[in-house]
Amino acid sequence: MDEVRIEPIDLAVYAAAALDVQAVAFGLGPEEVALRLQIVRRHAELPGVHAVGALKGGMLVGFGYGMPNDRTHWWSTVIEPYLAVGGNDGWLDDAFSVTELHVHPRYQRLGLGRGLITTLCAASPLPQSILSAVDRETPARALYRSLGYRDLARRVLFPNTVLPYAVMGAPLPLPTRSSRRPDAAPREAAPRDGAPHAAPRGPVGPP
Ligand SMILES: CC(C)(COP(=O)(O)OP(=O)(O)OC[C@H]1O[C@@H](n2cnc3c(N)ncnc32)[C@H](O)[C@@H]1OP(=O)(O)O)[C@@H](O)C(=O)NCCC(=O)NCCS
Repeated sequence: MDEVRIEPIDLAVYAAAALDVQAVAFGLGPEEVALRLQIVRRHAELPGVHAVGALKGGMLVGFGYGMPNDRTHWWSTVIEPYLAVGGNDGWLDDAFSVTELHVHPRYQRLGLGRGLITTLCAASPLPQSILSAVDRETPARALYRSLGYRDLARRVLFPNTVLPYAVMGAPLPLPTRSSRRPDAAPREAAPRDGAPHAAPRGPVGPP
């Protein structure tokens, strides 16, 4: 069985494969996949964007990408007033923003999500990282907390979504291993059986 490797990828080249993973991991329909594919392709052209993939042979089974936060970007303009309420808007400066992180359901719980986000953020020289996640006790929220992310704002409403989000921030570098599961990574990943984990949709917006 091929080992799953985590390595930098060209986001423009892997955009369609990434959306295939995101569609099953996050529960997206064809229309939203098409919309998000355009957005990912735009993001791929932005300065400082960095992407990592979990590759099994030539097949993408997980990915993450992000970029230095820019206060003029749509996502940043939406979250800024929510952060300002708690005096946390300084997190928008000198921060690496994690835009997407998804692992195909058949490859979840193998340490790939943790490996992807730590590898992604390790490539940034910035002192902190921010992201948004559905404001529920999801696997993603547990992962982010275990890496030192804390809530900077909650009940954040993006214009095109129904579910509220939490904005989280962590100092960089992230810890590279789970203190609770010291044998978590690296290791060879084997496909898992079971139904895909369908998560609620995330915010969609222009760069
Ligand atoms: C969030 C996600 C990327 C995690 O990927 P993963 O490869 O399964 O994660 P890992 O195996 O590296 O696990 C890392 C940590 O996540 C948390 N976690 C993962 N799955 C979990 C679950 N089912 N229940 C609770 N916590 C979970 C745990 O804290 C875990 O650490 P531990 O193994 O030391 O307990 C994956 O669940 C996913 O793609 N979810 C759907 C899409 C999504 O929500 N993306 C995030 C958008 S903000």
